[in-house]
Amino acid sequence: MSDAAPRLAIVVLISGNGSNLQAIIDAVATAALPVEIRAVISNKPEAQGLERARRAGIAALVVDHRQYPDRATFDAALQATIDQYQPQLVVLAGFMRILTPEFVAHYHGRLLNVHPSLLPAFRGLDTHRRALEAGVQEHGVSIHFVTAELDGGPVAAQTAVAVLPGDDAFSLAARVRQAEHALYPRVIRWFAEGRLTLRANRAMLDDEPVRLSQQTTNG
Ligand code: GAR
Repeated sequence: MSDAAPRLAIVVLISGNGSNLQAIIDAVATAALPVEIRAVISNKPEAQGLERARRAGIAALVVDHRQYPDRATFDAALQATIDQYQPQLVVLAGFMRILTPEFVAHYHGRLLNVHPSLLPAFRGLDTHRRALEAGVQEHGVSIHFVTAELDGGPVAAQTAVAVLPGDDAFSLAARVRQAEHALYPRVIRWFAEGRLTLRANRAMLDDEPVRLSQQTTNG
C-alpha cells in the first residue's frame, strides 16, 4: 500500500487482554489492513490491551465506567472521547459493556463487535462453557454490526470452529480466539474498502446481503 492510499480512521474499544486489538495492530503493520488506529479506549484502567496500544505508538485512553453515576453518563463521556478522534468506524474488541441505544444510534452502521459464538446461538457471556454444555459440534465467532439488541445486530461474517472430543471451555476458547484474530482484521478491511455496509438493518457485502454459510469465502 502506498503512503497516499486513503486509510480508514478507526477507534478500538477494549476492556481486557486486547488480543483482538493486537491482531488488528499486526495487520496494519503488515499493510494488510488499510486503517489508521487513532486511539484505543478502555473502560478499565488495568486492561492489558492499553499497553499493547502504547507499544504500537497509539493513543491509549481510559474512560473508567466506575467514575460515572449511570450508564447514560458513562456512554456520553465515552462518545465524547471517541469523537475527538473522528473515527469512520468504531471497533469493539472485547469491550464488555452493554451500550445505550443512544450510543449505538450515534454510530449506526459504523460500529462492529466480535462475539465468541455462531450468532444467533449463545448471545451474552460464558459462550464456550454453554456451547459445550449444549453439546454442539460446531462453535465459532461472529463479527456483527451493533444495534440496540444485545448481540443481536446483523452478522457480517462468521467462522465455524469444530468442537473436539476432550475440549474444555479453555481449549475451545483458545481455538475460537485464533479464528477471531484471523477474521476481525479481514472484516475491517472489507469495511475500509467500502465492500461491507449496513443497509436497512442488513449487512451487505459487495452489494449482496450476507448469507451466513458463505461469508468467510469472500476474500
Ligand atoms: C474475545 O474472545 C471476544 O470475542 C470476547 O471477549 C474476548 C476478548 O479478548 N467478546 C465478548 O465476549 C463480547 N460479548 P481480547 O481482549 O483478547 O481481544
